[in-house]
Amino acid sequence: MTYEVNGEIIDATPRAGQCLRTFLRDNAHFEVKKGCDAGDCGACTVLIDGEAVHSCIIPAYRADNHSVTTVSGLATPSDLHPVQRRFIDAAGFQCGFCTAGMVVTTSTFTPAQMADLPQNLKGNLCRCTGYRAISDAISGVVNTEKPGDGPAVGRSIPAPAGPRIVTGTEQYTMDTAMEGMLHAAIVQSPHAHARIRRIDTAAAEAMTGVHAVFTHQNSPGVTYSTARHENRLDDPDDTVMFDTVVRFRGQRVAAVIAETLALAQHACRAIVVDYELLPAVFDPEQARDVGAPTLHGDKGATSRIADPRRNIVAELHGGTGDVPAGVESALAAGGAAVSGRWQTQRVQHAHLETHGTIGWRDDKGRIVIRTSTQVPFLVRDELCRIFGLEPCDIRVFTARVGGGFGGKQELLTEDIVTLAVLRTGRPVQYEFTRTDEFTIAPCRHPMRVDVTAAAGPDGLLTALSIDVLSDAGAYGNHSPGVLFHGCGESVTVYRCENKRVDAQAVYTNNIPSGAFRGYGLGQVMFGVESAMDDLAAKLGIDPFEFRRRNVVVPGDQFIDAHVDEGDLRYGSYGLDQCIDLAEEALRRGGGMPSPTGPQWRTGEGMAVAMIATIPPRGHFSDTRITVDSHGTYTLGLGTAEFGNGTTTVHAQIAATELATSVDRIVIKQSDTDEADYDTGAFGSAGTVVAGKALQLAAWRLREQMISAASSISGTPTEKCELGPHGVTCGQRLVGFAELLLPTGGSLTVDGNHNGTPRSVAFNVHAFRVAVNTSTGEVKILQSVQAADAGVVMNPEQCRGQIEGGVVQALGTALFEEMMLDGEGRMLSQVLRNYHLPQIADVPRTEVYFADTVDEIGPMGAKSMSESPYNPVAPALSNAITRATGTRVHELPMNPVRVWRSLQK
Ligand code: FES
Repeated sequence: MTYEVNGEIIDATPRAGQCLRTFLRDNAHFEVKKGCDAGDCGACTVLIDGEAVHSCIIPAYRADNHSVTTVSGLATPSDLHPVQRRFIDAAGFQCGFCTAGMVVTTSTFTPAQMADLPQNLKGNLCRCTGYRAISDAISGVVNTEKPGDGPAVGRSIPAPAGPRIVTGTEQYTMDTAMEGMLHAAIVQSPHAHARIRRIDTAAAEAMTGVHAVFTHQNSPGVTYSTARHENRLDDPDDTVMFDTVVRFRGQRVAAVIAETLALAQHACRAIVVDYELLPAVFDPEQARDVGAPTLHGDKGATSRIADPRRNIVAELHGGTGDVPAGVESALAAGGAAVSGRWQTQRVQHAHLETHGTIGWRDDKGRIVIRTSTQVPFLVRDELCRIFGLEPCDIRVFTARVGGGFGGKQELLTEDIVTLAVLRTGRPVQYEFTRTDEFTIAPCRHPMRVDVTAAAGPDGLLTALSIDVLSDAGAYGNHSPGVLFHGCGESVTVYRCENKRVDAQAVYTNNIPSGAFRGYGLGQVMFGVESAMDDLAAKLGIDPFEFRRRNVVVPGDQFIDAHVDEGDLRYGSYGLDQCIDLAEEALRRGGGMPSPTGPQWRTGEGMAVAMIATIPPRGHFSDTRITVDSHGTYTLGLGTAEFGNGTTTVHAQIAATELATSVDRIVIKQSDTDEADYDTGAFGSAGTVVAGKALQLAAWRLREQMISAASSISGTPTEKCELGPHGVTCGQRLVGFAELLLPTGGSLTVDGNHNGTPRSVAFNVHAFRVAVNTSTGEVKILQSVQAADAGVVMNPEQCRGQIEGGVVQALGTALFEEMMLDGEGRMLSQVLRNYHLPQIADVPRTEVYFADTVDEIGPMGAKSMSESPYNPVAPALSNAITRATGTRVHELPMNPVRVWRSLQK
């Protein structure tokens, strides 16, 4: 068959049933991205004879004798396509995984189609941006500034990867092919809880082209956690690669490594497993009852499970003062008290790039792991532990990561690939399907949150208590951390003498939960901020005013229920400004007009959120900067770029401190060989921890160069200044070449940071909504978020992080729910029955920044990746409640739940 792809002829015959996307990728067109296999996400969009199609649902043979254009084919050798240019100018991407498809789709738009993006862009999903920047890109709005003279920090400099992102040439993990690549597929448990009596792998092993079959009988028995943290003891060791007991439907039982994926899958079907069924428990309330089936009851103290015989992974009990007395005193004084129960659901990260790993041996025999992870160094260290390797035996690196949101702080595919490379000596790849993401990748912890709060007639809190039950699922990865963090800042943000926290995370035979943007705060804040609003309403106090009277201010101690880390400080404080900014924006109005008709009721609501800017107990970053005789600065950073924008911010920090421009900055990152140690890209630590380490390295480098220049020129140090061409000492310029000759042409300086002390960042969200009392439909008329990010390093990028967080949270608040059947079967297996927000579903959010300078963060900055997500669901719930007079206590607040609440 003959295909014309981007003007070049491919003579090849697709495999039987092969889709066009896979055919194109098999022919090295990796610019065609793979986000799903069902035509749902649009990442694989190409043009066939000028018409945009989702190539994952087009049989390859249908493109025979047709012209196919991918995103790479839109650009001419000398210039980008105008749409590609617009995506760069508007900063219309974050991780960029959706961008190739977005660009191809929109390249065909007529002006009329551009004017109706909700209709015409509904086939392309973006999980990162919240769509505003994409909409701007399509409309030709320029949001970025050209890098030029002057300090780079504080300017909306475009992401360095932009030209590669918009042409599809930026490589993600699976965007490469290797000679002799083998493929992995796994056998999954059909049972929620069972013991494996026997596995017969003989038929699979006998198949030609099958190179290895792994089960519990021939794989490491080391216990570990898929969760990765700086301190590996933070998570229970309750997992082994292949266990003799399966604890959720989908758990891996065996893996086949074969010449093709189809053969590996075929061989999996030939493996016979004899299971002894065990009693299962799916309800977290029942899981901790005496006599409930236990999932890890056989595990001892070394597993670090709080109480394995009661299914309790972790628990937290503590407080200050006397909560019942606080409630009584409020009521006695004529105040008010509220108590209620709130429930949050399972949510999938739905990063458009699925989990995947490719591994091989390099020419020195070392294992190389190319993987889509937020934490390459932590993955390396745990692989060493599982397989008895030394860190020097293995290199782990990431290409660009196509979205993470916490989901890639897990070790899910790297272990199988490492084992397969060790046993076969061949390159091996293992890639999750979109359905795997729903059925076997960890999700957000569902939590039941009970809140009691009381305040006197003056509106001052006298009592605040929470009781939280978190469903860890079958394994405890991240469950302790999510529980402790979720119960932290959601309570700490309030000044109150009587506080109490009781919380447990329990095992069930459901899919495991894990790290998710907000790390527990989104769930607990949904309860706490809703209760605060109910309390304010009971007292007749405006919700903004109620927060002003009760939130912590500098000088207040941070009081929560767990260990006082002692390193949490007010590096800056902008919560007061955020409350004012959000209220003023809401009072100004704007947004959409309310629909008319007696069935529509409108209301306004808000919520506040606080977050520590760095995870506790250490987050480490060692950076290095090398300057060469051309004045090019190469930064070595261990942290990963997954759409959080740290690459841009790091270039800005270095350029500013070294008095140069960002185009002289080269970044090598997220590679255990190419960069020094970094705990990883989570907890929003990329800007504040790696950024601080980088700033220190830049200071040291500047000092060394100035000192060297002054000795060359014979001029006192204080009169020398570093600039883009070298160091100017008085009238004399000591150029880079001159400076670096004594050191052999380059100079390298290190900087490091240990993640302490930590500051606090704040977000306030406010909505005005209209609710249809006949149908339960919610229309967002105005959406406002005010953020205290300290010094905003890149305004457009930071705005994008906030908008993306808000839209992800709107998905959680209104639509998204991973449905289980009550016996652990996942019913939501593809994007189309999950309802990721589309461009038509979401409003534009007004974003405002508090004017603060943080004395802890680099150049006054604070983190702003996770926190915008946290106040959104309660703010929306509060607006719905004020519109209707009834409260929806469960997420998502879909029309059915809203309508039902109206019937009470
Ligand atoms: Fe759209 Fe990441 S930028 S999915």
